[in-house]
Amino acid sequence: MKCTVCGKPAIVKFPAHNSAFCEEHLDAFFLRQVSKTIEKYKMLPPKGRVVVAISGGKDSLVTAYVLKRLGYEVLGFFVDLGITQNDFSPRSREVVENFCKEHDIPLEIVDLKERYGKDIPEVAKRQDRICAICGVTKRHLMNEYALSVNADALATGHTLDDMAKLLLANLMRWDLHHLAKGVPTLPAEPGFAKKIKPLAFQSEDEIIAFAKLHNIKPVEAKCPYGREAKYNRYQEALDMLEEKSPGIKRSFYKNYTKYAYLFEGTQARPPKVNCEVCGFPSVSPVCTFCRTWVVDNEKKK
Ligand code: FES
Ligand code: ZN
Ligand code: ZN
Repeated sequence: MKCTVCGKPAIVKFPAHNSAFCEEHLDAFFLRQVSKTIEKYKMLPPKGRVVVAISGGKDSLVTAYVLKRLGYEVLGFFVDLGITQNDFSPRSREVVENFCKEHDIPLEIVDLKERYGKDIPEVAKRQDRICAICGVTKRHLMNEYALSVNADALATGHTLDDMAKLLLANLMRWDLHHLAKGVPTLPAEPGFAKKIKPLAFQSEDEIIAFAKLHNIKPVEAKCPYGREAKYNRYQEALDMLEEKSPGIKRSFYKNYTKYAYLFEGTQARPPKVNCEVCGFPSVSPVCTFCRTWVVDNEKKK
């Protein structure tokens, strides 16, 4: 197998692109792809400031690494959820801290226990929708941080596989609200930072190869609450299609981004009230975040 660019021995083959690459050209290919995504979807101004939500998984580590390589001002953000089962949070925190140190990325850590006196396992005792609560918590905190540092955008590590499986799941239910919001860039709105997904067109195998090339080692521990498991069947269906028709995942998602505007206006109206506690837009007088982390604590006092 030879590199499509230079003809030297290739280390990796990407059937979806009908290409194979040596180390040097894998690096160049990946950077170019992400840079095109950033430009096409107007994610960041040159040298812009971007907060990256880093969990310790390969996708968010690669997102932070690539943005730094492309010359952006990257600020890392990590939420310590306090999940000690499987050593999940301590290991993730260590991986993120070491990574940021190595790549000279300033890191902001919010430790839930330190800040709110309780953590995810404690909330999980009274809540069966813990993954949803955990998602709300992380989104609230990263949004708040991105706004506080005046970032041009908040980046997450969503990949082509994530975007395609969410798209398929939303289509299966004709969930118009989420179909309008599955695009790689969501503009800033009052109370919300601009949200970007720079890896929205990079597939799992490309990210794994790139992480390996740069010795980026993600946390191996898995969250014991098994987040996202409900989307696995969509992933399996897409993987099966991709095997038969390489590139189909990419064109499925890419063509959706062309027509996503058709779903605009089908979104639920923006929240009307501001949360009485934190002041951020909310659908109820006190937002889910504050109900979970702040109000309960005050009652206990
Ligand atoms: Fe939040 Fe698993 S990472 S519940
Ligand atoms: Zn080459
Ligand atoms: Zn609130």
